[in-house]
This record gives sequence, structure tokens and C-alpha cells, in this order.
Amino acid sequence: MVALRELESHGEPGALVYLSDCVELMRMMPAGSVDAVFADPPYRLSTERGITVKGGRLAPVDKGHWDRSMGFEEDHRFNLRWLREARRVLKPDGTIWVTGTHHIIFSIGFALQTLGSRIINSVAWEKPDPPPNALHTAFTHAHETIIWASRGKGARHTFNYDLINSPDPASQVSSVWRIHAVPKREKMHGYHPTQKPLRLVRRALLASTGEGDLIFDPFCGSGTTAVAAKELDRFFVGAELEREYAELTARRIMAAERGGVLREISETLWDGA
Ligand SMILES: C[S@@+](CC[C@H](N)C(=O)[O-])C[C@H]1O[C@@H](n2cnc3c(N)ncnc32)[C@H](O)[C@@H]1O
Repeated sequence: MVALRELESHGEPGALVYLSDCVELMRMMPAGSVDAVFADPPYRLSTERGITVKGGRLAPVDKGHWDRSMGFEEDHRFNLRWLREARRVLKPDGTIWVTGTHHIIFSIGFALQTLGSRIINSVAWEKPDPPPNALHTAFTHAHETIIWASRGKGARHTFNYDLINSPDPASQVSSVWRIHAVPKREKMHGYHPTQKPLRLVRRALLASTGEGDLIFDPFCGSGTTAVAAKELDRFFVGAELEREYAELTARRIMAAERGGVLREISETLWDGA
């Protein structure tokens, strides 16, 4: 496995994505080696019959074969398997974030607590612009849940209260996060069907980690966690099973690195102004 100094690029924390199954990768990682895990696992909501609305038209819900359910019990076994490894690679005071909808989030919550983790927050990510319910048979699905958990008993997790909140005690940031869908500029390096907005992941990492910490994402997808980690000067390691998406992650990491250089130039100009 990589040592932290191998992740140094241009003297800044670097980022690395492995084309690998996440459980296989985590089994090679030392116990207690990462400060935080941010995981956006398969929600298992792609079915033959699922229908949504895309660009005003009915469209099948098909994110890819990796998102197909293997049956409730097998899905739960999968969640237990990767969460057990994720918890093992976490430092004693590290924390784990897991996103999900009702299709998997109860399994995730149950698995985390079965393994001994303690849920710190269950965040509701409210989407101001959800697609309408296509068949008029249910309320519009307008939120996802993000579970934030520590390793469990005795753990002292980081919460950067002052970085997240304004000094006004009457306006604390709550567990309801109203964040728009991914803006076009974040999709310029390629397409992923379930890309998360940078703003959401950035908030989670800013709240729970410090500069120079190591962040791990078992399900990189388009690499949103990697970009957020780079932007915040954290180290990053991740796994992605599909070559197409691992390459997209790598492209976004490279672009974020160039962004870092551009930022330095503009800061220099500002200093001299
Ligand atoms: C929900 S998406 C993650 C999206 C990501 N958060 C983003 O913002 O782009 C889940 C990703 O996990 C990958 N995946 C599924 N099973 C995996 C496994 N066992 N190991 C590693 N990656 C896996 C899928 O190919 C998919 O790209």
C-alpha cells in the first residue's frame, strides 16, 4: 500500500484511485490508517420496472449493473462486508459518512450498529429540484440520508464546529442540508449517473477532518470525494470497480491539482494588489 509521502505531489497532499473492488483493497490496508471514510455505495435501486422523469420524459431507472439488487439479504451481507473493513481501516477517533436512500440506508444503519459503531448524525440532504414522481403514486422523493458515525464506544470524533457555523449561536447548521443537484461545471470531465455535488462532500469533510488527514472512498464513482479532499488539502485514497469511472476520477484529480496551481497564482496577484 502507498505511504503518505508517496502521495505528496508538488509538496501538497496527493490523491490516488485504485481500479479495484473496495473490499479487496481495504483488506490490503493497515488497520487504523485513515482519518475518515466517505462512502456513496450502490443504492440498489436500478430495476427492470423502475421509472423516473428525465428532461420531462419518462425514463427507466438504470444506473448500471453494479446498482442492481442481489436480494435484500445479499445486499445486507454486502453492506456488512464492506463496512466491517471500512471500520477496521479507520483510526480509533475516525468517522465514516455513508449516503443512501430508503433502498439501503436502513441496512447501512443496522450494519454499522451491529459492528459497534455509534451514529452521530443522520443528515437529510434536501434536494430543492427533485424529478417529479412519474406515476403519481407517492410523494416526490426529495431527500437522501447521510449517516455520520464514529467507531463506537470511547471514540472522540472531530467536529470543527467553528468552521461550519457562524459565530451567531442562533443560526447553527442543522442536520437538514439543502443542496442543489450537481452543477454543469462539475460534470465537464465526463458522465457518471450518480455523481454527488462537491458542496455536499466538502461540507462533510470540512466538518469532520483536518488539513493533512487521509480520506478514503470505497466507491469513487466520478471522484467527487477525491476532488473535495484535494481542495481542502487532505490526502486521498479510493477504490472504483469500473475502469471508465476510475479514469474519470483520475481526470478530475488532475484537474483539481491544476486548480491548486491556478489558485496560488491568483493569491499572489491579490497579495501584490
Ligand atoms: C453511487 S456511485 C458513487 C458516486 C460518487 N460518489 C460520485 O460523486 O461520483 C458508486 C460507485 O461504486 C462503484 N462500485 C460498485 N461496487 C463496487 C465495489 N465493490 N468496489 C469498488 N467500487 C464499486 C460503481 O462502479 C459506482 O461508480
